[in-house]
Amino acid sequence: MSTPIGGRVGEPAQGGPFNLSEFEAIAREKLPHASYEYFAGGAGDELTLRENRLAFERISMVPRVLRGGRERSSATTVLGVPVNFPALVAPIAYQQVADPDGELATARAVAGAGTAMCLSSLSTKSLEDVAEASGPARPLFFQLYAYRDRGLTDEIVLRAQEAGFKALFVTVDVAVHGRREREYRNEFVLPDDCQLPCVPVPAEHDGPLSPHEVTGLMQPDLNWDDIERFIALSDMPVVIKGVLSAEDARIAAGLGVSGVVVSNHGGRQLDTAVATIDVVAEIADAVGDQLEVLLDGGVRRGSDVVKAVALGARAVLLARPVVWALAADGQAGVELALSLLEAEINDTLALCGCATLDEATPDLLRRAAP
Ligand SMILES: Cc1cc2nc3c(=O)[nH]c(=O)nc-3n(C[C@H](O)[C@H](O)[C@H](O)COP(=O)(O)O)c2cc1C
Repeated sequence: MSTPIGGRVGEPAQGGPFNLSEFEAIAREKLPHASYEYFAGGAGDELTLRENRLAFERISMVPRVLRGGRERSSATTVLGVPVNFPALVAPIAYQQVADPDGELATARAVAGAGTAMCLSSLSTKSLEDVAEASGPARPLFFQLYAYRDRGLTDEIVLRAQEAGFKALFVTVDVAVHGRREREYRNEFVLPDDCQLPCVPVPAEHDGPLSPHEVTGLMQPDLNWDDIERFIALSDMPVVIKGVLSAEDARIAAGLGVSGVVVSNHGGRQLDTAVATIDVVAEIADAVGDQLEVLLDGGVRRGSDVVKAVALGARAVLLARPVVWALAADGQAGVELALSLLEAEINDTLALCGCATLDEATPDLLRRAAP
């Protein structure tokens, strides 16, 4: 699986996987059942998890033709970081559960692919080691969960800045842990050989930690004052991850936030929350001229990426497909997944008659009647 044929970027490996979704079955075979369920699951009835996909599928494209002869590029920048294509790796907890090298493998694959990664606070490798693995350009952002212990939270932020991370993504949709029934059913806990070096686990804690207990360490009363505190704390631009309403995006812009991630946490927090692709245009219209609008949730195809960009997202992030690729074949798996996605994005632009991402505009899209 790790030897691509043909030599072209994005050429599927012999025998597959031929697209991002196909990594899931391979990962499912390899992972212990409880780990697979932890990565795959959503909250409640998993309606939002499903809707994130269905909402993309309801959008069709109306391509333009005979606009060739121009140089094509999917390159852009995200918070000042240049990327070859507008799809980044989302914060994903516990990556060592998928592969022994975990976040180090992902960071190496991401740097090689010429895109960027947002490292989870719940990384199983230290943020300094991930920075080192990512190489000198450090196409890295740091995702923060604010902890009850504000002193240690601030220390982690300053360590991320020191290590060369380029922006701070504060996740704001975890007032409580989502009701992820697959986690409870399988009694999933972090395996003994995994550490969480960026989490202030109390010294008196003994035994394996459940994801639910980790959330219990987080500041439950997070509010806009904390966002102002994080803006003042470091020189890193602050991005809010987990915005679904245009009104919240306007407040963020008013405070000087540099970006929002339109996200429902991959359907893992509030079940029945709206699909992200259904609200991104409203949010981009409200604040897109003041800050960068990113989107995650259900992105699986290059056409999904182009749809999000056409509706006003600067870039998208992906979580589960990256975990599946990591579990399937470590760093080589993530490299293959990213190159397939890059090829799909470029092919979609070509088939839509777009030379650059700027040319992906809403008139390319039609929504099927509900
Ligand atoms: C296994 C897993 C772990 C995640 N861990 C984090 C995390 O530590 N911090 C965070 O902000 N979001 C986390 N997320 C949410 C993702 O960053 C992202 O918002 C969402 O999953 C994207 O949807 P997708 O999985 O459909 O691509 C996690 C998601 C998954 C599936």
